[in-house]
Amino acid sequence: MNPFLFLFPFLFLAHESVSQQTYSGNHILECNNSNTTELTSEFLYTCNGIQSCSSFLIFRTQPLYNKVFTISKLMSTDPTNVARINGITDSAENLPLNKELIIPVTCSCSGKYYRANTSFVIPINTNYFTIANFTFQGLTTCDSLQKNNIYKENDLQVGGKIRVPLRCACPTVNQTMSGIRFLLTYLITWEDSIKKISKRFDVKFQDLVLENGFSSVKDLIFPFTTLLVPLSTEPLSSQTRTPNRNRNQNQNRNPKLSKKGIIIGTISGGFLAILSGVFVICLVSKRKRANKGKIVKWELPKDIQLGIASVDQVLKIYKFEELDEATDGFTLEKRLSASVYKGSIKGRKVAIKQTGTHANKEVKILQKINHFNLIGLYGVCEHDKSCYLVYEFMENGSLNEWLQDLRCQESQTWNNRLRIALDVAKGLQYLHNFVNPTYVHKDINTSNILLTKDLRAKISKFGLAKSIEKGKNVNSSVKCRFESKGYLAPEYLEAGFVTTKTDVYAFGVVLLELITGKKAVYENDDDGGQVMLCEEVISIMGDGNNAKSTVNYIIDPRLKARHSLGFVIDQDELALRLVKLSIGCLESEPSKRLSMNEIVSTLMIIHMDAQSSDTLFLV
Ligand SMILES: *[C@@H]1O[C@H](CO)[C@@H](O)[C@H](O)[C@H]1NC(C)=O
Ligand SMILES: *[C@@H]1O[C@H](CO)[C@@H](O)[C@H](O)[C@H]1NC(C)=O
Ligand SMILES: *[C@@H]1O[C@H](CO)[C@@H](O)[C@H](O)[C@H]1NC(C)=O
Ligand SMILES: *[C@@H]1O[C@H](CO)[C@@H](O)[C@H](O)[C@H]1NC(C)=O
Ligand SMILES: *[C@@H]1O[C@H](CO)[C@@H](O)[C@H](O)[C@H]1NC(C)=O
Repeated sequence: MNPFLFLFPFLFLAHESVSQQTYSGNHILECNNSNTTELTSEFLYTCNGIQSCSSFLIFRTQPLYNKVFTISKLMSTDPTNVARINGITDSAENLPLNKELIIPVTCSCSGKYYRANTSFVIPINTNYFTIANFTFQGLTTCDSLQKNNIYKENDLQVGGKIRVPLRCACPTVNQTMSGIRFLLTYLITWEDSIKKISKRFDVKFQDLVLENGFSSVKDLIFPFTTLLVPLSTEPLSSQTRTPNRNRNQNQNRNPKLSKKGIIIGTISGGFLAILSGVFVICLVSKRKRANKGKIVKWELPKDIQLGIASVDQVLKIYKFEELDEATDGFTLEKRLSASVYKGSIKGRKVAIKQTGTHANKEVKILQKINHFNLIGLYGVCEHDKSCYLVYEFMENGSLNEWLQDLRCQESQTWNNRLRIALDVAKGLQYLHNFVNPTYVHKDINTSNILLTKDLRAKISKFGLAKSIEKGKNVNSSVKCRFESKGYLAPEYLEAGFVTTKTDVYAFGVVLLELITGKKAVYENDDDGGQVMLCEEVISIMGDGNNAKSTVNYIIDPRLKARHSLGFVIDQDELALRLVKLSIGCLESEPSKRLSMNEIVSTLMIIHMDAQSSDTLFLV
């Protein structure tokens, strides 16, 4: 696919001045093209009309957002309104995948741009681009997320709440006078063309073209970008689509066969500035010839190749075709999360993660280490600017899911939770003490801890891991306020200090989650505010005088359900020992925190005591 080909006509369209807003093509997909000086609808739609209005967005149902209820929450809008306009009676009903829903929102000028405000609590490790493109499907942009949030890309934490401005716009005064009352933000998808969209929403082709700053003869749009549809009445649910399931699958499998008029390809903003029109034409004709009928060869980065050679081909280099086949063409059914698919290669179950160019680090670390409690990497594949990592498949998903899943009642026992804690501790102990150089994982949280069929835990996601000199900074005595965000140690938040004690802190939070069954950061039902689990536990436990009676308040009720079995060691004592251990991990001064060695040995003793005391209770 040659991006220049599509760029060419677009260059001339961009200067169209009669338009209400300018359609920005693929630029809205870019991530750090944040040119603040210039007003651009690449960022959000510019404030050029009435200050505030009702407007509508199109959202397509996804596996996690497939009910009116959850989608309304995602968009911060009233579910009864969403249900009404879409003709849905039950807000909790599961809707078919990829069904289009009309989302009514209030759109207002804020500074130079229109926006509808919502917020998003980060559920798994992700980045701004994924949130903009996958979760919000292009209804917001990566750039505007970065602008509206203080967190840097690498500081996005599970449980953190970010502001999300949604792309919307209001009619201009002239439009209002000519009867246009609403602008609908439409999400372009594979099958669309301007003609089809105008027909579907009963809008004049010319109006749609003008609204979005197209030249009338060009029919050029990109999937995962937005288009404004000017409407004189509220949109109707009969104008939305619920795609045919099978047809959709085929489409996924073979995107190259998608209809003409739709252009795929990512354009880097830099090219626009550098290339003159003539230069582009030359390139187009030249490259077109060169690429014709040829399969582009992929190559792994050199340093990965070297690493692989040096460990005797332990890592396999997969062909993209193998992975495509393994996942039935990366279908939605095989999708485990935004960028992870499940598959089967030669009868072996695998998880395949698609990553950008940041995979080198993870590959380099994982090929060097080999431990039962660290996720196994089988191989890699580089294809079309993406890197695919093939991992051992973890049947029980993430610890986070397992702890929150109400269907797993049976397996919620102290024994399982203690063993999981011990597994994680051993994985970290290995990273901190038994590899050279020492590694700090830096991103320990329950989403990155995966569970096998037998509920054995393995640490995954080494993308942020960092090597450090042994013992470096461990005893630094930075004084910190006791403040943390989820799993982030205070010294890391305040000064960016990374030591093995950063992982110890995060482990302490994980341990509390195992004891309480709560999330590291969760929403308070009473006032909707956020509660930091570790702060809560520490305040409940107070000065420790009545620890034995207070610990009862924080134990996960699912663990208490087994109280009637009459075990010898009472669970309050067990829980108390574990809570004390986690508090030893959560000391605000890194030097006062326990080391992974101490944690592993303490946990082993607790585990043994618990097992010898009563096997009934531990199942
Ligand atoms: C743009 O993004 C790249 C990686 O995606 C990053 O290395 C670079 O620093 C970013 N530039 C700016 C100006 O943020
Ligand atoms: C931002 O846009 C202005 C106007 O087009 C341009 O002159 C300037 O070079 C741009 N800045 C960056 C950093 O791209
Ligand atoms: C949306 O959020 C922005 C930034 O926080 C704020 O300035 C604006 O007033 C908000 N708009 C509404 C309608 O609340
Ligand atoms: C944006 O998301 C869609 C799926 O929702 C995906 O097919 C597409 O490749 C994504 N775009 C990029 C540039 O990753
Ligand atoms: C609004 O309409 C008037 C009369 O048709 C026209 O002169 C003016 O340029 C229009 N304004 C805008 C912003 O398009």
